[in-house]
Amino acid sequence: MTNPSQLAVLSLTVALSAFFGPILLTSLSPHFQPWVELLPISWDSTPLQCAPHTYTTTLVSLSPLLIYIHNFVSPAESRALVDLGIPLLEPSPITGYGSDARGSRARTSWSAPLPVNNSLVDCILARAESFMGTLLLQGRDNMGQAQLVRYTEGQKFDLHHDWFSRPRILDEDAKSGRRRLYNRIATVFLTLQADNITEGTGETWFPYVKPSTTTTGAPNPWWREHEDGGMAFKAIAGNALFWVNMFPNNGSGDGRTLHAGLPVKGGVKTAMNIWPRVFFGPDA
Ligand SMILES: *[C@@H]1O[C@H](CO)[C@@H](O)[C@H](O)[C@H]1NC(C)=O
Ligand SMILES: *[C@@H]1O[C@H](CO)[C@@H](O)[C@H](O)[C@H]1NC(C)=O
Ligand SMILES: *[C@@H]1O[C@H](CO)[C@@H](O)[C@H](O)[C@H]1NC(C)=O
Repeated sequence: MTNPSQLAVLSLTVALSAFFGPILLTSLSPHFQPWVELLPISWDSTPLQCAPHTYTTTLVSLSPLLIYIHNFVSPAESRALVDLGIPLLEPSPITGYGSDARGSRARTSWSAPLPVNNSLVDCILARAESFMGTLLLQGRDNMGQAQLVRYTEGQKFDLHHDWFSRPRILDEDAKSGRRRLYNRIATVFLTLQADNITEGTGETWFPYVKPSTTTTGAPNPWWREHEDGGMAFKAIAGNALFWVNMFPNNGSGDGRTLHAGLPVKGGVKTAMNIWPRVFFGPDA
């Protein structure tokens, strides 16, 4: 269903190659001071006070880059984000396939865009932005609009990738004639709630992601080798997966980031999607 060479957008190659520098692994270290949190981010001249993060990281795969983040948000932050998003939920749209089909059988979960300019959402976005270090260019790129997604009994999202096979134009840019396109450089998939989920269900499965060594290491509570190949990550509240969607050298979508939200049994999974946007084109 995804052939990277078919989906590659050649016209991006030159434009993007200039914008992607090497990923500085040092900036992904848990010891890196999140400078974003030290700066006031304000919308009404009141500085935003974000709680300091307490996460730790495990680098799972170097290519594509996938990092497991432990305790990206606190239990209190998780609960507050779930409470904020639940009243807004609707059947999930599917984007990135040329059309938006609500309530499609490929994606049976519910979702909602999280509010813009909400102090908690902005703190979590700032934390994710800080984690990404040099991947985004200040003043050009942004963290996009966060989304809450909820899977109840039997709900799932079949194999898909998060990058757009055709880069998009924002509605406001289309209206104003601003010539810039964007794509989702990376994804932060943050589990906020994983209540009563039956063991071995509701995982996020990446059929083409392999750990950097030949084994997944000792059995652990966070992931396992999937019987059909690749790795399956358990839904654990507070923990996040970070991965890079696009090849850094040419900006085309990385087919190896294909993944699925496997059907949830026995309970409920609520998560937050963060899709940072990289812009390119003459007016970017
Ligand atoms: C972009 O680079 C990747 C990695 O080198 C390669 O596999 C892919 O085919 C390239 N895409 C295009 C459109 O050149
Ligand atoms: C959010 O805040 C920014 C900065 O003050 C403002 O420009 C923007 O219009 C606000 N967005 C919404 C949806 O309120
Ligand atoms: C999980 O199970 C407990 C105990 O049966 C129940 O009280 C709770 O409501 C359940 N949570 C969800 C989200 O269904």
